[in-house]
Parts: sequence; C-alpha cells; structure tokens
Amino acid sequence: METKIDEIAEGVFRLSTFVPEIAPPAGFTFNQFLLMADEPLLFHCGFRGMFPTASAAVARLLPLERLRWISFGHVEADECGAMNQWLAVAPNAQVAHGQTACMVSLNDLSDCAPRILGDGEVVDLGGKRVRYIDTAHVPHGWEAGILYEEVTGTLLCGDLFSHTGNGPAVVDTDIVGPAIAAEEMFLSSSLTPTTGRTIRGLAELAPRTLALMHGSSLSGRAGDALVNLGDYYDQRVRRTLAELDAAFGENPA
Ligand SMILES: [Fe+2]
Ligand SMILES: [Fe+2]
Repeated sequence: METKIDEIAEGVFRLSTFVPEIAPPAGFTFNQFLLMADEPLLFHCGFRGMFPTASAAVARLLPLERLRWISFGHVEADECGAMNQWLAVAPNAQVAHGQTACMVSLNDLSDCAPRILGDGEVVDLGGKRVRYIDTAHVPHGWEAGILYEEVTGTLLCGDLFSHTGNGPAVVDTDIVGPAIAAEEMFLSSSLTPTTGRTIRGLAELAPRTLALMHGSSLSGRAGDALVNLGDYYDQRVRRTLAELDAAFGENPA
C-alpha cells in the first residue's frame, strides 16, 4: 500500500491511498487532506490499517507533532478509524467536530476530549480558516458535517461525489456522472427529502475546489457540480415516491 501526495490548492495536500481490491476492476481511493497553516489540520484519519503509510506521507510534509487539528466528515472506519493513532503521535492535536458527532460518539471514542464546533463556526488556523457546517444525514450519518477552507475556497466534501478508479489528483472535467454511477452501485447515501437541498446549499459557499475522499478532486465549476448532484438526489427521491405511490396508492394515510 502506497500513499501519494499532491498539492491540489495552495497549502492543501491530498494524500491518496489506492486499494485495487475494493470495487474491482476500477478500484477505490481513500484520500486524506492536510491543510498547511500555523495550526495544521488533517481531514480524515483513514483506517487503522492505513496509518503506517498515511502517517509516513504526512511526516514527509511536516513533523507529526506539529499537527494541531484532526477532523473528518462522519464516524466510520475510513473517516476516523486511526483517530487515536494520530492523537498518540501528535500530542498537540485535538479532534474537532460538530455537536452531534461529539455527543453521540467522539466524547467516548476519542482518547482526548474533542472540541465541539457549532454549525457555521469558523476556526482560524493562522493562514487558513475552516468553517464547520452541519449536514445531518448527508451523505450519511446523523453526525455528518463538512469543512470549508475559506482562504483557498476548498470544500472538504468527505464522501460526497465518491467515485471509483485511480484518476488524477485533481480534474476539471465532470465528476457528477462518475459519482452517480458509484452511488447507483453502492447505494451509500441517505435518501431524505432534504438531501438535494442540503447539497445545493453548499454551492452558496462558492467553492473553487471540491476535495473528495474517494476519487479525483475537482477544480473549477464546483458550484455547478453541487447543484447537479443535489438535483440528482431530488430525482431519486421523486422516483422512489412514485414507486411507493404505484405500489400502495397515493396518500395511503
Ligand atoms: Fe462514509
Ligand atoms: Fe469515506
């Protein structure tokens, strides 16, 4: 297993570990993002089993003990499995997440008390600023949230737009089509009446780069991609409601 490093925006490094055995034949990437700042932040911890290669990659960019913040989208093994391994090698680091994640899981799971971020709260990292946004159940998990780095305009999307393959670190081509194809295969997203609206709402941040946990990041036309992905989920909700109507009749109550 090897972790590749690419700078996808100024001081935003993508650490990518490709696993060909997942979703063959295309395979699947697991990406972490290191934000270089006075208080460096790592977004996604990775699996526990990936920690040796991922931490070696981060150590090529900065001494691990300089890490100040650790965050991620939601509570799953690829997002936060190695959380306590990072905390062990970075004694100045603290996990930061939303109120739901901390109260439901992280107050118990994290070896050090996490910092609770309010919806919309901005943390000044010194040279970079991250805004935390609650996105409950988007893409999945009650505790789900997203970070937006305001200086570079980088939206740390987590599992949104997940797609298979080991493409370039960053592309300026369509990522919505591949994301829909992967979603139709994995069915990993929570489908709620507000899924589409929540995703489209992120376009109001006017991000310049979408940093994806699984797949190539996007540079340019990021707002359009968010709107189109949100529309796709609305269509799926309508499709599902139509199927329910067909099966049970309209307004069964
Ligand atoms: Fe996930
Ligand atoms: Fe993930």
